[in-house]
Amino acid sequence: MYDRSDRQKQTQEFFTQKKEVNEVLNQWPDKDFIKDQTWIDTSCGSGNILVGIFKRLEKFHNKQKILNDLLFGCDIEILNVKETIQRLFGNKKINILQNNNIPNKMKASGLIACYEYDNKLVTNFVCCDSLLYPMNFGRFIEPKKIHGFSWLVEENQ
Ligand SMILES: C[S@@+](CC[C@H](N)C(=O)[O-])C[C@H]1O[C@@H](n2cnc3c(N)ncnc32)[C@H](O)[C@@H]1O
Repeated sequence: MYDRSDRQKQTQEFFTQKKEVNEVLNQWPDKDFIKDQTWIDTSCGSGNILVGIFKRLEKFHNKQKILNDLLFGCDIEILNVKETIQRLFGNKKINILQNNNIPNKMKASGLIACYEYDNKLVTNFVCCDSLLYPMNFGRFIEPKKIHGFSWLVEENQ
C-alpha cells in the first residue's frame, strides 16, 4: 500500500480525466442509464469513470439503488477502492476488512479486501485482482457482456 505519488512511480498508475470520461459518457444515450442495467469498472482506480456513470444514473435512479444494484467496481490497490467508495458514498468512516475479517459471503478467489461504510458492509466495490476474481460481489450474478474500456455492462432481462 503506497500513497498516490509513490504508486504512480511504482505502477505507472494514471487515471482517466473527468473531461475524457464526460466526452465518452456524453455520447452514451440516456436510455442505457434509464433501464436497470449494471455498470462495472474492473480496474476503477480512484473512481473517475464510476463517478461519471454515477452522475448519469442519478438522473433516473435513487442513490441506494445505484450503489446496491447498478454500479460495481474493483481495483487491486486497497486505497484506490477506499477513495472510490468515499467519492460515491460520502465522507463517513470506512473500515478496510482483510484476511479473517472478510465475511464468508464475500470470500472469493482474488479478493484482497472488502469495506464497511458507516459500519455497513459494502458489497459492490472490492479490492481484488480482477484477473482472478469471479465478479460475484458476494452473490450470484448472471454472466455479463463486456463493453469498451475497462467497464462491463450487463442487461438485466
Ligand atoms: C490506468 S488506471 C485506470 C483507472 C480507472 N479505470 C480510470 O480510468 O481512471 C489502471 C488501474 O488498474 C489497476 N489494476 C492493475 N492491475 C489490476 C488487476 N489485476 N486487478 C484489478 N485492478 C488492477 C491499478 O491499480 C490502476 O488503478
